[in-house]
Amino acid sequence: MAALANRNIILGVSGGIAAYKSAELVRLLKKAGADVQVVMTPNATRFISPLTLGTLSEREVLIDIFPENEDGSWTRHISLGVWADILVVAPATAQTIAKLAHGFCDSMLTAAALAARCPLLVCPAMDHDMFVHPSTQANLETLEDYGYRIMPPEHGELASGLVGHGRLPEPAAITERIAAELGSATPDGDLAGLKVLVTAGPTHESIDPVRYITNHSSGKMGFALAAVACARGADVVLVSGPVSLESAQGVRRVDVTTAEEMRAAVSSQDDADVVIMAAAVADYTTTASTTKIKKAGDDLILELQRTPDILAELGKARRPGQVLVGFALETDNDLENARGKLESKDLDLIAVNNPNDEGGAFGHDTNRVRLISRDGAVEDLGTQSKDRIAGLILDRVRSLRSSSIPSGFPSP
Ligand code: C5P
Repeated sequence: MAALANRNIILGVSGGIAAYKSAELVRLLKKAGADVQVVMTPNATRFISPLTLGTLSEREVLIDIFPENEDGSWTRHISLGVWADILVVAPATAQTIAKLAHGFCDSMLTAAALAARCPLLVCPAMDHDMFVHPSTQANLETLEDYGYRIMPPEHGELASGLVGHGRLPEPAAITERIAAELGSATPDGDLAGLKVLVTAGPTHESIDPVRYITNHSSGKMGFALAAVACARGADVVLVSGPVSLESAQGVRRVDVTTAEEMRAAVSSQDDADVVIMAAAVADYTTTASTTKIKKAGDDLILELQRTPDILAELGKARRPGQVLVGFALETDNDLENARGKLESKDLDLIAVNNPNDEGGAFGHDTNRVRLISRDGAVEDLGTQSKDRIAGLILDRVRSLRSSSIPSGFPSP
């Protein structure tokens, strides 16, 4: 992963059961070419040995803020904060989150975080009730206000035996997210040279000056796709409906409100090599009243008109080599319906979501996605974080793109 090569990463590990996953995380980051400095809280050493993480990272693990011997440097936490391109805390326990939110600096990890000049990414992992407790939530909000990025925990089985939110995402997903955070296009990423257009979020179709028709799309899947594509070197344009999400550094974002505006923004990017329509475009719109519609009678009948099918239009106007990816949200006959859409809109790939799947679709940080390709093959990507799903979809896009370019043609 080019975005990670030669980058300096501080990996802060705090004392929760998920600390065991940090060994795999160090291995993946090192494999991607990053220089990793592990910093553990004293409690983390009860869950995983500094020897393991030191051996994998090829650097002495730092724990205490005070140097162990007299010639050790007292200002190491400051120099670390300057050295790092990103500081990641994974797993971040409730206690470490509380300390970070309140400026404690009683260990090398908390002190380095306070001194850091680089972006900070916090990956909370704990028992469900500790995670949803108002104090933890307030601390996370404080961190967000300070500009920290938060990678939310996944829903699933927890060490306590309970099921809920609190599970640390898999190391591959965290690696993907770190690459996305380090973000801006790198000239040698595996998607370098490609222009990728992603749409995200819902659209709002006005009924009158105060009301509109919309859906529950949070935009998270599209934003993850844009962030990961950018981290992998693509030139990314993200056309987003109204959502309250921040786009990753390096992504060119165009905000729109209605399906018609989304169509205009998409068609102005007709040189895109890859188009991924993750937006939940409203299927119907209405002619908005210029004044607020007054309550009268028991029923109100709105006349709705179909919105333009942006993706179907792209399918008709497709340029040779252009890759088109759609999303299908289906509650019944999901594969069959999605296959129909892939054919009628002339797509290369369609990602199928079913909101009835556990941990899937709207608003969640995870998604269960099955991919259907033109030859009818179905690949179940399972329930994973949206960053991880984004990485896997982009892997397929990358191979589709290579196979659509005739040999002898300059490769992207
Ligand atoms: O037909 P359906 O709306 O289920 O298809 C979903 C796919 O089509 C999504 O990729 C969505 O972004 C796209 N779409 C579109 N324009 C519409 C409706 C859906 O591009 N008006």
